[in-house]
Amino acid sequence: MEKYLNLDYSYALPFVKDAELKKIQSEVTKARKMLNEMNGPGKDFLGWINLPKDFDRDEFDRIILASRRIRKQSQVLVVIGIGGSYLGTKAALEYLLPYYPKRRNIEVLFAGHNMSSTYLNELVEYLNKRDFSINVISKSGTTTEPAIAFRVLKKLLENKYGVEESKNRIYATTDKAKGALRKLADKKGYETFIVPDDIGGRYSVFTPVGLLPIAAAGVNIKSMLRGARAAKSAYTSNNIYKNDVHMYVAIRNLLYRNNKAIEMLVNYEQKLNYFAEWWKQLFGESEGKNHLGIFPASGSFSTDLHSLGQYIQDGERILFETVLNIEKPNKEIMIEADDLNLDGLNYLSGKTLDYVNKQALKGTLLAHKDGGVPNLLINIPEINAFSFGYLVYFFELACGVSGYLLGVNPFNQPGVEAYKKNMFALLGKPGYEELKKELEEKL
Ligand code: PA5
Repeated sequence: MEKYLNLDYSYALPFVKDAELKKIQSEVTKARKMLNEMNGPGKDFLGWINLPKDFDRDEFDRIILASRRIRKQSQVLVVIGIGGSYLGTKAALEYLLPYYPKRRNIEVLFAGHNMSSTYLNELVEYLNKRDFSINVISKSGTTTEPAIAFRVLKKLLENKYGVEESKNRIYATTDKAKGALRKLADKKGYETFIVPDDIGGRYSVFTPVGLLPIAAAGVNIKSMLRGARAAKSAYTSNNIYKNDVHMYVAIRNLLYRNNKAIEMLVNYEQKLNYFAEWWKQLFGESEGKNHLGIFPASGSFSTDLHSLGQYIQDGERILFETVLNIEKPNKEIMIEADDLNLDGLNYLSGKTLDYVNKQALKGTLLAHKDGGVPNLLINIPEINAFSFGYLVYFFELACGVSGYLLGVNPFNQPGVEAYKKNMFALLGKPGYEELKKELEEKL
């Protein structure tokens, strides 16, 4: 299968030697083999690998029907979830929907990803005046942040439409058997969708976690899955020179060995800002273990060239950048000549804004490389549902191989539990009495 994205690693080469690439080839192959043969750590969470092909067709049809119903019944869909249960959807919608949506389009808002009472209050006020539905998403069904938001918004919905009607406006996406949300949904009779046991939150965009709200927003999810399938077929070779996923994994690992501990995912198109948030969770939660792992950061250029640019160019040499370049913008703006030319911009007349953006990209690549910051460039032909699916799969695959190459389990997140335990103890949750005493002494 021909590749759709293009990885240009020429701006990283002075920092990574050809001999090093040749040497690391066998390690990357070994990591990929572990993933393919499903015998590495976290092997029970590899359902995402075949997901774009092997999914439940009946459930997919129900997703399409439910998405149509949501669009009919509501002006707003509130997606309640945190981490992997909302970031993929947020990334897809920011990438694919217009910056200023048309009025009649359904609006997708998010809750349960923070505990700001100001945020939730303002959301409640906003929803009071609108017809809305809820998609509550939690694989475990026990995560505190979304559970609280759901309790508040369910009440609002019931007060507005009555208990019976509100059942038709709540869609629950959760584990098939366990957890509080599963029990609640079954008892109340909400329509439910399943997060498969073998897929973790941050790898779940192509399950109902992402598919239902993304479809409800009007995106062609079939095209998104086609993109993911195309990526799956494109990156099978073991030769890193013929497989951009493997080359990306190899170079970032070699840079990490060379003390480049921070990777910035950079874009020149703000529609990718939330894609970077999704990517940060994917790599941060997958690789940050055993005191290892590249710290994933992000930059939105030109905006951040005027804030972080100074540090990138001149600060500590601990960074490398992975630049996402949209080759063809959805829309163009031509810069016109001005009779007076008081702003001195007539030298750009007849050029497009995207042309200027691209020169900024090229100039920055060279400046950062010359300043000691390796750059990897990923060229994406255009913004559409297909390229979103393709990009997601590209990075999911890269993350799995990369985690094994690093020597960690890329499919668990034990570190996330530490804050939860302390929070439960401080809140007085039954069973945490001893820890509460310990913490209160320390505070
Ligand atoms: O990637 C992950 O596993 C996490 O980010 C989870 O998605 C997040 O913690 C939310 O968990 P849950 O869906 O169980 O509420």
